[in-house]
Amino acid sequence: MIKERIANINDCMLIYNWANQPDVRANSYSKNQITLENHTKWFNGKIVDTESLLCIFENDDNEPIGMVRIDGKKEMNEAIISIIVDLKHRGKGYATLMLQKACNIYQSEHNKNILAYIFITNKASYNSFNKANFKLVEEKEVNGILSYIMIYQTKKNE
Ligand SMILES: CC(C)(COP(=O)(O)OP(=O)(O)OC[C@H]1O[C@@H](n2cnc3c(N)ncnc32)[C@H](O)[C@@H]1OP(=O)(O)O)[C@@H](O)C(=O)NCCC(=O)NCCS
Repeated sequence: MIKERIANINDCMLIYNWANQPDVRANSYSKNQITLENHTKWFNGKIVDTESLLCIFENDDNEPIGMVRIDGKKEMNEAIISIIVDLKHRGKGYATLMLQKACNIYQSEHNKNILAYIFITNKASYNSFNKANFKLVEEKEVNGILSYIMIYQTKKNE
């Protein structure tokens, strides 16, 4: 079983450490390590941003296993999702469950499609999104990196 909760001010370092894991940076469009100063500024804004969702997941032992972020903007019809599973908890099938739960929470409040940008080399990520019912829209270069664009439609558009 996994449980979700909305990120709060005490999660700043947890998310900072996840975001700076080498393979997380390697699978992101901006490859540089994130400074604590920039992260803190970004994080403080994100946890009060009602157009976005920052969700932490925990296992039965209340250990944090990962996070899903869905970034929305009032003026945009689509939101953008990303996921990190803690290295210790990879390969247990958590990612698919986390994506499904976070999308349901987000879409219960926002009538928007959710887009994922995935490097085509990131097989684990593609498989997770695919199993969570994201559909492939196209394959194209984004910031010079061949990527899959996948979509999770709002129930209202289906
Ligand atoms: C991508 C990520 C979230 C997947 O998390 P996870 O909990 O390990 O994923 P799961 O255990 O649910 O596995 C997902 C699927 O990918 C498969 N998979 C895992 N590693 C794989 C690999 N190296 N190559 C191919 N398939 C792989 C699994 O077998 C599973 O498919 P299956 O259920 O059909 O067997 C995790 O690897 C991660 O946090 N990576 C770093 C950050 C990142 O890349 N985020 C995504 C950016 S778009």
